[in-house]
Amino acid sequence: MNTNKNSACKLKQLLLVIVLVFSNITTNATIIPIHTKDFSLLLQTDNENRLILSYFGDRLANNDELKYVSDMFNFTDENIGICNSAYTPSGTWNLSEPALKVIHSDGNNSLELKYDSHTIDPLTNGAKQYTIVLKDPVYPIEVKLFYKVFEAENLIEQWTEISHNEDGILRMQKYASANLYFTDKDPYLKSFHNQWAMEMQANSQRLTRGIKTLDSKMGSRNVMLQSQSFIVSFGHEAKENTGKVMLAQLAWSGNFKIDFEVDSYDNLRLIAGINPHASEYYLKPKEVFETPALIYALSNNGTGEASRNMHNWAREHRVLDGQGERLTLLNNWEATYFDFNEKKITKLFKDAQEIGVDLFLLDDGWFGNKYPRNNDDAGLGDWTENKKKLPHGIGYLIKEAHKKDIKFGIWIEPEMVNPESELYENHPDWVIKQSQRPEIYQRDQLVLDLTNPEVQDFVYGVVDRLFTDNPELAFIKWDCNSIIHNAHSAYLAKENTPQSHLYIDYTKGLYKVLERLRAKYPKVPMMLCAGGGGRADYNFLQYFTEFWVSDNTDPLERVFQQWNYSYFYPSIVTDNHVTNWGNQSLKYKVDVASMGKLGFDIVASELSKDELTFCTEAVKNYNSFKEIIWHGDQYRLQNPYDYDVASLLYTSKEKDRIIMFSYLVNTRVLYHTKTEPIKLNGLDANKQYRVNEINLFPNTLSQIKNEQTYSGDFLMKVGLNIPVDEDNPSVVLELTEVK
Ligand code: DGJ
Repeated sequence: MNTNKNSACKLKQLLLVIVLVFSNITTNATIIPIHTKDFSLLLQTDNENRLILSYFGDRLANNDELKYVSDMFNFTDENIGICNSAYTPSGTWNLSEPALKVIHSDGNNSLELKYDSHTIDPLTNGAKQYTIVLKDPVYPIEVKLFYKVFEAENLIEQWTEISHNEDGILRMQKYASANLYFTDKDPYLKSFHNQWAMEMQANSQRLTRGIKTLDSKMGSRNVMLQSQSFIVSFGHEAKENTGKVMLAQLAWSGNFKIDFEVDSYDNLRLIAGINPHASEYYLKPKEVFETPALIYALSNNGTGEASRNMHNWAREHRVLDGQGERLTLLNNWEATYFDFNEKKITKLFKDAQEIGVDLFLLDDGWFGNKYPRNNDDAGLGDWTENKKKLPHGIGYLIKEAHKKDIKFGIWIEPEMVNPESELYENHPDWVIKQSQRPEIYQRDQLVLDLTNPEVQDFVYGVVDRLFTDNPELAFIKWDCNSIIHNAHSAYLAKENTPQSHLYIDYTKGLYKVLERLRAKYPKVPMMLCAGGGGRADYNFLQYFTEFWVSDNTDPLERVFQQWNYSYFYPSIVTDNHVTNWGNQSLKYKVDVASMGKLGFDIVASELSKDELTFCTEAVKNYNSFKEIIWHGDQYRLQNPYDYDVASLLYTSKEKDRIIMFSYLVNTRVLYHTKTEPIKLNGLDANKQYRVNEINLFPNTLSQIKNEQTYSGDFLMKVGLNIPVDEDNPSVVLELTEVK
């Protein structure tokens, strides 16, 4: 009996050896499966002990079959390199676009990376962290690849650490965060380009052979022209509810470079990281260089599911106070621009109280005495109250605001300086510039050199002094209106540090300031702004509670912009103000601004009685449903590009209350509205919902059958015919579960 069993076993082993020899399976391969709920990313060693990404697709159910995966693919037949390298080195066998390119301390430029070891650690936040160590067999260089996995959200944060123990400096010429490989065919890229007042303009394209790059070389205002968030899909442009998609962002607030290469096998290589342009980094022995993370959410059910997962992850794990509250506000920027005084401002407090918002935000123009900030060409850097405009200072304004039961917040732009300022006069060496060349200004200003610790102290001090002098200050708007021209740092020159560190050390210097501020003021809400929008990413959002989407507050344009931002960000972080931009009705403006954090930038005393009543009621409504906008799930129903009516909804996590917004977005002659119902999504099919229209303008009647109830099943399969037309271009519905 036993003998029979043994010989059967031996035969089986022999057969396996034969199979292995003929199929070239690497028996001693180290396989590191990284699983999320629906996806598997398989890292494994090849015959040479190099690390490859052998699979990146639907979750594989059987761990004992993983060893067969790599032999099902073969991308190395022409010996030109390994396209699916998990982190492509440069200067040896691999001639594909590299992830890491270095010049050693002895001047040699070759790099080889082989697998050394790995660990898997559970983290306290429920995520799992994989760390894989790669080493060069010849030079003492170590690369650690990190994958932080949020299983339920199908979301991964991926980054790298590079260090060495050579005798001198290692010059890093490229140092990517992530290097991915997709064998899905026919990739499409949706990217988003920016410009002042035209942030987040979508651009979709089919990727063909060669490399497509998204990048920034702007420095401080890094996303002025291009966003570092993007969507990859396969076989067709990304769809909302079907198909494999990857929603991704490089979480870095400086220059970035993201390469999409369709290789000779028609597979997609993706290499993302800090832009190495003008940024060769000189790494000292034992110094650890940590790259920012590429954050990506995957879904087989389109962008809708991937966005909701990213929103959940962001609120729970990333955004400062992501689970908390936000303050509605009245801002004076467009109401007064630079032309204000104490009387004008305190009068606006009454407006804020009447509209019913939580806070008044004093914008640009409150500071500078020798060089008063009465325009954008002077005063930046001199952060003391302008005595003429505000003789009693900020403290007085805060007290006056409190008398009206509202909080007080203030605008700053602490990374910048006007040449016409005392700061510039006293510290010309704190400014980024090429002293032998003419200065180049954007909005009449220059950028402070945040590589310099003294400048970091100064910027920290601007905010710290505001809070220590005014402990009841409740909000900061942090602006940034200039990119970096003439990139040269007097500080780096003095320290004998290469100028090529400037862009990276600027961003790290800024993070240091924010780190210190948050250590002392952990929760005060701060809005990130950059001459409008765009300056937002998931590194910044660890310090900021929200960001300014765009100076373009024309609500029609905002429907598109907010739609595109919503792929990546939950509505709790997007600040939307009602202003005089655009020809749409006040109702349309308020409805659009309610899909995020609501604010106003108008003079309420100039509103008609009905308009004021409308605003007051709309703020009350907003207060009743803001919890759902901030923390619920968002379902995009009809996009503004393909339909005449754009529509989306937010549901509470319990699916017992839904707020649905619909807007006419095509105002040309032939538009189609009211012809067919819009199908809802994200409801509970078994629940009954009562439908009511809210945010109605005084003396207008709703055109829907209010109080009518429908099942979730009906609403998701048949839908609702929304009465949107030219006379009624914006409709907000509230659906409440009937128990
Ligand atoms: C640009 C911002 O986007 C505006 O909202 C306003 O704060 C101005 N700067 C102030 O200068």
